[in-house]
Amino acid sequence: MEATITLTVDGQRRTVTVDTRTTLLDALRDRLGIMAPKKGCDHGQCGSCTVLLDGRRALTCLALAVAHDGAEITTAAGLDHDALRQAFQDHDAFQCGYCTPGQLCSAAGVLDELAAGWPSSVTEGEPVLSDQEIRERMAGNLCRCGAYVGIVAAIKAAGR
Ligand code: FES
Ligand code: FES
Repeated sequence: MEATITLTVDGQRRTVTVDTRTTLLDALRDRLGIMAPKKGCDHGQCGSCTVLLDGRRALTCLALAVAHDGAEITTAAGLDHDALRQAFQDHDAFQCGYCTPGQLCSAAGVLDELAAGWPSSVTEGEPVLSDQEIRERMAGNLCRCGAYVGIVAAIKAAGR
């Protein structure tokens, strides 16, 4: 069974007909040619497919496209966050870069969540931009190159 859906991706309205079993990741990459979200594990374990979905970070490999008809999606390519981008460069927060689009979207989500005062499992009192908070909140984004030290430093710098 197929369905026609409309998504606004990085500010552009796109309409596409997909099999109802299609994930949002496959709809973006295979049907719309939007390659910023990466396919790593394809089952919610690595974070490389992370985007901002209606303003909150989400794993597109675990989302069905038809469940998000009308959604606003921001990929790393459309992320309006120069401070974060610059901080990733300044702090050597990537090597091969495969995980980086997901890391950037997730980091933007983390900074928004902290600004909104959302607690995590390591929060005591008011949440602050500490290494511990960043590590906990970014735990779903794996980096096979092991650039974690730089990633934490970059998010901390961008959040100041
Ligand atoms: S590809 Fe989605 S979490 Fe790994
Ligand atoms: S920079 Fe290579 S996987 Fe993260």
